[in-house]
Order: sequence, then C-alpha cells, then structure tokens
Amino acid sequence: MLGALELACRYRAWRGGDQKNRKPHKQTPLTKMASKLNEESISLESVMAEFKLSNTTLRRMMLHLSDNMDRGLESGLEKSTIAMLPSFVPELPNGKERGKFVAMDLGGTNLRVMLMEIEPGEPMRTKQFNTRMPNAAMHGTGAKLFDYIAKALADFLIERELANENLPVGFTFSYPCDQTGLRSATLLRWTKGVTATGCVGEDVVQLLEDAIARDGRVKVEIVALINDTVGTMVAAAYEAGGQCDIGVIIGTGTNASYMEDSKKIVHGLANATDKYTHKQMIIDTEWGGFGDRGEADYIFTRYDKIVDSRSDHPGVNSLDKLIAGMCMGELVRLVLERLCENKVIFNGNGSKLLRTVNTFPTKYISEILHDDCGSYMNTRQIMEELGIEGATFSDMLLLREVCVVVSRRSANLAAAAIACVLNRVRKPFMLVAIDGSTYKYHPFFNHWVCEKIRELLDPGLDFKIVQTGDGSGRGAALIAAIVSRVKKEDEQRQRDLEARLKKEEEDVERKKREIEAEKLEAEERGRKMSELLKYQLERGAEEYHLRSDDD
Ligand code: BGC
Repeated sequence: MLGALELACRYRAWRGGDQKNRKPHKQTPLTKMASKLNEESISLESVMAEFKLSNTTLRRMMLHLSDNMDRGLESGLEKSTIAMLPSFVPELPNGKERGKFVAMDLGGTNLRVMLMEIEPGEPMRTKQFNTRMPNAAMHGTGAKLFDYIAKALADFLIERELANENLPVGFTFSYPCDQTGLRSATLLRWTKGVTATGCVGEDVVQLLEDAIARDGRVKVEIVALINDTVGTMVAAAYEAGGQCDIGVIIGTGTNASYMEDSKKIVHGLANATDKYTHKQMIIDTEWGGFGDRGEADYIFTRYDKIVDSRSDHPGVNSLDKLIAGMCMGELVRLVLERLCENKVIFNGNGSKLLRTVNTFPTKYISEILHDDCGSYMNTRQIMEELGIEGATFSDMLLLREVCVVVSRRSANLAAAAIACVLNRVRKPFMLVAIDGSTYKYHPFFNHWVCEKIRELLDPGLDFKIVQTGDGSGRGAALIAAIVSRVKKEDEQRQRDLEARLKKEEEDVERKKREIEAEKLEAEERGRKMSELLKYQLERGAEEYHLRSDDD
C-alpha cells in the first residue's frame, strides 16, 4: 500500500504544473471554519501519520483496557469505563440441546425473527424473517419501538400457525444492559445512534412483554435476553463442538464476550435476583465504552473528536466510534474534506456532498478496497455518487489510501482489544468467533486483525479466528435451548436429590421400625423370662410348701 502512496505522491508532483492552472475550489463557511482550526500546512503523510499506532501505543492501550476490565468486574461503571456486564449464561452448548425455539435479534438497524428447530447431531432447521427497522421506531418513543418488534414477532408466528404454542424466546438486544437475571435487564444507555425515548433505565424484557400483551395475538415465553457477542460466542461453540473463547462483533458497533469465573464477577452478581450457583458465566465486556473518561485520549485524532462531538451521544462509547462501522465512513470523509481544503486531493474541488456530514457510508470503504488492482470501477462509481468530477488517477490512489489507513487503524485497535482479552483468558489455544458487517465485508480487515493479534499476543498463546454468520440470532435460540436444557438438568438433579432424600428417610424409618421391633421383641423376651422366672419361683414355692406339708 505504501508503494501506491508513493506512486500517488510522485504522480501528483508530476502533475503539479497542470494542477496549478485549475480553478481553486470555493470555500463554504464550514470548510472555512475547518481551515481556520487547522492552519498549519498539511500533507497526505502528516494526516495519515495521525492514524498510525505503534505496537508500543497498542500495548499501552491493552494495559489500560485490562485494568479497566478488572475494575469493571469489581465495581462496574462506578470505577471503570468497561462495564463487564453479567449475562447469566452459565455454559456453552454441549450438543444435547433439543426443541423448537424463537430468536429475535435487534442489533444495529435490522430486526430478525427466527424459528429454530434443534436436534442433537443434526443441522439446525431455521426459518427467518428480516426487516429494516424504520427510523420512526428507532428515534420515536420506546413504546413505538417495542410495538414494532412485537408486531413483527406476532405476524411471524401467526403465519406459521404457532401463535398459541407458548414457545420459548431468546431475545438478542445489542445495547448495554445491566442484567440481574437471565430475563431481567435494565438498559444502561443507547448506542449506535438509537434515541428511542423512555427505555433507558427500564427493564427491556418487561418493555417487550408489555408490547406483546398490547398486541395480544400470540403467547410466548421470553426466557433470556442476551447481547449479540454472547450469541456469537454460543453459536460458534455449537459449531466447534463446545469450544469458543471469545465472541466478538465488529459491525455498526463493537464489543466482546468471554467466559469468566463467577467468583471474579463481584459487582455483576451483587444484585442478582436469584442466587447464582454455577462456577462460570459469560461476561459481556462492553469494551466500546473504553475512553469515555478521557483515558484513551492518546489514540484520538482531531477527526475522532469531531465525529464524537457531532454524534447522537457525544462522549459515549468512544472505542466503538474508533473501531466500528458507525463512524468509519464519516472519518474517511472528514480526512478527505481536510485534504481537499488543503488541495492535496481533487485539486481542492471535491464536491458539495463531500463537504456534507454523513454522506460517506462505511460500505464505500469496503467497496473502494474491493476494486481489483488497477481497476477503479467502484471508486469511480462512488465519486460519481458524491458528485466529484475530474478526479485524476492520483486522486483515486489517494482516496484508496485514506480508506486503507483509517480502516487499518480500526483493525489494529480491534486486534489490540481482542489480544487483551486473549491474554486474560490465557489458554494455550483459543478460538475467537467474529461477526459483524464491518469485519465481514471489508476485504482486508480479517487479515489485518489476525496479523496484529499475532504481534500483540503473549508468548506461548495461540488462537484461531472463525467468522460466524448469523451468530447473534442463532445464539439467542441456542441460549434458549441451553436454558431449557440446564433447567431440565436442574429439575432432574432436584428430582434425583428428592428421591435420594426420600430413600434415606425411608431407610431411617425402616431402621427405626427394626430397632422398635427389636426393642419390642427384647421386651417380650424379658416379659416372658420374668413370667417364667415368676412361674418357676411360684412352682418352687409350691413344691417347698408341699414338701413341708408332707413333712
Ligand atoms: C453495543 C454493544 C453491542 C455492540 C455490537 C455496541 O454499540 O454497546 O452492546 O454488542 O455494539 O453490536
């Protein structure tokens, strides 16, 4: 890639004369303000340098991340920006799960309803319905949002004649929730730009159950609410025969889950509704919150700060904004805007759209990087969509380079976060399951993440990455299945315990009766003995008297 960058710079220098003759681009109030803020002269190299992170910086970040994870486990958000939320999922699937389950998945912008039939040793049978969540639902009232979800669920079940089967539902809700049980979770805050009112601080399962009751057409039982990373981890473990060490999402937002010892989950278990008796639990790290108290300022560029200040939730979920797809496109746009202002690209002309906030969706980055070497088909199409005219070969190389540098930084930060969790899990060989659009559709992200984890992982540890499609949805159904299996196993254990206690009680009773009978027998023997004795004494006395009379 650096070769391409060098080539572009030389090409620009060579074209210098001809570019000088072009009409300078007219400044808008917004761009004038941006220029004023950054009056120092900039080059592509100086802008790009801001996005480069050395391994020393990444290791420093890993230390801070790990420290925050420890404090999150101990004291939650009071002492940490990483919440380390309990999921109340005690184990991974063991292949013995069976039954019919419904999964609902509300993540970034889509809602998915799935029906899954699970039989040991057989591939899962799935029927699903996907819909894009309307803006009015994501940005209106909470009641409207949950009514929309309840309606989608009811329509789906009625169509399949399952309205009254009281099927167990696993609900994947990919926003930070403080869980006090498997099916009780208070929404801590919205992320990924959602602003529906009346939900933060409320129990999400209750909001859903109320909406299902308002709809009134179906009977279901919500058995678990889970985060998408928990679902991804569980779905990957099901495929891999029971093992998965981290579930990661790099999509509109980013986050990870892993299995933790229950005794370390001090804060998360302090308010549990029921006593938690299992040795382990999956923890939803919510690592996206890292940096919310300024502890990661050394990785923020001026562009990150602008993106954050213009976002729906400024100062919230900082690492999310640096890594995930929600803001990546806008970051590229801001860099291009600045380069354009300084006439480094597009000869300073750009376009009105390029200077307009949020006009460069993250999918453009993947599309540009998907162009085969030397072909600029997607790049040209995107420039056309942005209204950029007269771009040169050098401009297209530069545009590609900006996409590489911004998305590579995101991959490096994701890799550092993953390596941090792997260094904590510390098994000789670990399986990392990753899902999410940003990761999936970018042509090099997977390779970059893998390469960087290798550089940052502690010696003696090894890992493998698997991409888990649909993990969050399938995971919700699997968790509903695990819950019902664990419940059945618990009930069986309880039945076995009761049967053992009953048998022990019966044994004690029998023993008591035997002792009682022995006692009675001994008393009887004693009575008979004393009767015999009495008889013998009487007979003796009689004989004595008879003998005395005879005398
Ligand atoms: C949310 C997480 C979620 C992640 C990936 C973040 O914005 O806070 O709960 O797991 O996005 O969807």
